[in-house]
Amino acid sequence: MEISSRTKNLGTENAFVVLAEVNKRIAAGKEIISFCIGQPDFDTPKVIKDAAIKAINQGKTGYVASAGLPELREEIAKYEGKLRGIELDPDAVVVDAGAKSFITHTIMSTTDCGKGDEVIYPNPGYPIYEAQTIVNGAVPVPANILESKEFNFDLDDFKKKVSDKTKLIIINSPQNPTGGVLTKEVLEGIAEIAIENDLWVFSDEIYSNILFEGKHESIAAIDGMKERTIIATGVSKTFAMTGWRIGYAINEKLAKSFSTWVTNITACAGHPNQYAAVAALRDAEKEAEEMTASFKRRRDLIVKELNDIPGFNCLKPKGTFYAYPNVTKACKNTGIKDSEELRKKILEEVGVAVLSDIHFGAKIPEEGEHLRFSFATSDENIEKGTEKIREFIKKNSK
Ligand SMILES: Cc1ncc(COP(=O)(O)O)c(C=O)c1O
Repeated sequence: MEISSRTKNLGTENAFVVLAEVNKRIAAGKEIISFCIGQPDFDTPKVIKDAAIKAINQGKTGYVASAGLPELREEIAKYEGKLRGIELDPDAVVVDAGAKSFITHTIMSTTDCGKGDEVIYPNPGYPIYEAQTIVNGAVPVPANILESKEFNFDLDDFKKKVSDKTKLIIINSPQNPTGGVLTKEVLEGIAEIAIENDLWVFSDEIYSNILFEGKHESIAAIDGMKERTIIATGVSKTFAMTGWRIGYAINEKLAKSFSTWVTNITACAGHPNQYAAVAALRDAEKEAEEMTASFKRRRDLIVKELNDIPGFNCLKPKGTFYAYPNVTKACKNTGIKDSEELRKKILEEVGVAVLSDIHFGAKIPEEGEHLRFSFATSDENIEKGTEKIREFIKKNSK
């Protein structure tokens, strides 16, 4: 018996690989300060937990329609429509166990396996975009996100990625791992390309509420884009609900296909959890705002601390809870080969866990070396962890 080659070659979220390294050290009694994990460090608000407990006690524990509870789909259409300033139809909404599954559902619904269909996706970016493109028999085409453009695409470069095989563009804003936000001009440029070439756009907006400046701009709100945009988002990050596994996608034309994929794969998202999501969208706005305010304060703290490390240069993230400092000079000054070697050294020598740029796609040589810090952690950890790195860099600089 053999394991299929596509499974053997399946990409993954390297955050989980690093997490295993970290846990091994913790089990061996080492003290580790971790900036790895991509989830809020807050507990789910009580009003949400109470709604789930009530649903469980009322016996709402069986299968439900694959597209999701009508009550939840209505609430999603209202909430997400208001956030983007557009009308959304509840029938266009499909719910599943996390926004992540819609990356797969979308690639499967818009490309054919083995035909050379191409998917453009951001690099650096969430690694699942590339992994799912490959495993589903499509061709991954990375489009660079540039630090010099405050973590945006260069539109001329982006245009060159489009061919007559392109079927789908994936974008993510606010963005993992850079904390960047795509500008209105870039969104309009991508919209123009999508319309001109008749392409789908998967818009991963999971961090749409963790935004520190201005209002969230969705490509779906641009004229002619709603019909070709799959808005993918959910309650994981906004409401500290990562483990509840409720995400959703919104697109009128694809809703039926998505719902068939959900029937095939998960049947439906957890029934009581869907009531929790209704409560989140309806009744937890204040708690969500407080969490975002707290991430903003920590953003300011970590950017100040990182920029105080010799050879680190960190742009201010505009959203998410990720900082993505450029550490090229720190590598040079310490004689460390690259970001990945630096990551390993600071884990081994000072017990601080971070991710490096290679965990988010192929290296762009002219962009230099980067590390990713999740600042969904305490002020104390931010201060202690960055101080340890500062001491390490100072001690090892030539
Ligand atoms: C860019 C991006 N998209 C999607 C997800 C997954 O979200 P969910 O928990 O809703 O599956 C994550 C989680 O880290 C993410 O960073």
